[in-house]
Amino acid sequence: MKNIIVGQSGGPTAVINSSIVGVYKKAKELGYDHVYGMVNGIEGFIKGNFIDLDDYLKDKDNIELLRRTPSAFLGSCRYKLPKFESDPETYKRIFQLLEDNEIDTFLYTGGNDSMDTVKMLSDYAKDNNKPQRFMGVPKTIDNDLPITDHCPGYGSCAKYIATSIKEIIRDNESFNKSRLTVCIVEIMGRHAGWLAAAAALAKGDDCSGVDAIYLPETTFDLKEFLNLINDLKYKKDSIVIAVSEGVKTTDGRFVCELNDEDLAVDAFGHKQLSGCATTLCHIVAKETGLKTRAIELSTLQRAASHIASLTDIEEAEAVGARAVEEANKGNTGMMVTLKREQDNPYKCTTDVFDVHHIANAEKKIPLEWIDLENHQMKDEFITYARPLIMGELTPIFKDGVPTHLIRK
Ligand code: F6P
Repeated sequence: MKNIIVGQSGGPTAVINSSIVGVYKKAKELGYDHVYGMVNGIEGFIKGNFIDLDDYLKDKDNIELLRRTPSAFLGSCRYKLPKFESDPETYKRIFQLLEDNEIDTFLYTGGNDSMDTVKMLSDYAKDNNKPQRFMGVPKTIDNDLPITDHCPGYGSCAKYIATSIKEIIRDNESFNKSRLTVCIVEIMGRHAGWLAAAAALAKGDDCSGVDAIYLPETTFDLKEFLNLINDLKYKKDSIVIAVSEGVKTTDGRFVCELNDEDLAVDAFGHKQLSGCATTLCHIVAKETGLKTRAIELSTLQRAASHIASLTDIEEAEAVGARAVEEANKGNTGMMVTLKREQDNPYKCTTDVFDVHHIANAEKKIPLEWIDLENHQMKDEFITYARPLIMGELTPIFKDGVPTHLIRK
């Protein structure tokens, strides 16, 4: 028997399931008997919770549906694998489960924290002469994994953000100055501004673009921000500002903490960032008397498979397939990366890299790509991001809404 297992971990994306498709198709092509899926990542696997993907994906129509299904089909987790020294039993349990089920390959789809799990398990296997292979499959809307050019999940989220921002600007421009509204749009991305920067992609012949973009790569200066709004209110009938959930003031506090509310913290110590746009809208209304509207894109931006980028879907599938190929060749302790060959026409291939250099690290936007004075993105960013949002895959509609594949 030659079996393989794949798990999904961390915040979901609109295309994470395409990586499952890539894994499944390539594993079958290479002769694996069973392709298993962990239910709720490693947290579920430790409890013995996994399914046989044949039960769903033998049917080709389901493969097409899964490519159009957002969020983690297998279920996700934010589980921090303990260090071996503090909890050897968990490691024994994981490897026992792998042996009992004749699983020689363990693939984990996720971001920085999930790559830490791949790192720890592959290190344990090497140190203890275990034969199993562990490979990371990149995924995060935040786009903050190092080494890889970009991360599957980012392009689709960026496409949703650019589209929504464009629609918000159209709406906000409906009225004249007598009803000027300051619209503040809060965008995910934690400590890196890749997603908020995608607001710049809305600009074109038919859209003037956002008035400012605030990123976690630079310090948020409240006084300067209010000055900008006071200046814009004389010049414009509509003000739309994109702000990353992770922006911090000079004293190191997240803007969403300015209202003195304590933020919840996850297993990896990440603060749950939310409320930045609302906080800023309250301040703007109080200080300027202008009408404000806070829009938190929140879950919508990472679940929007109805407007996913086809490029992103195809790349998510490709990284899943490459992980299987590499493990099948005997590789372990690595993550698949995306390697941009050229911008125009866009060409991207896959590669692999040692996961030790990737786990727990965060890649930020290069400062030279940011127009710091005008709070806008420079052409270098547009050249980088535009190809990633290209192409569409139409949902399969039923009763007027897209259909999804779900676990029974
Ligand atoms: O890791 C991706 C991400 O979507 C971040 O952009 C966001 O800050 C975080 O997850 C939200 O996590 P959760 O859905 O667990 O609250």
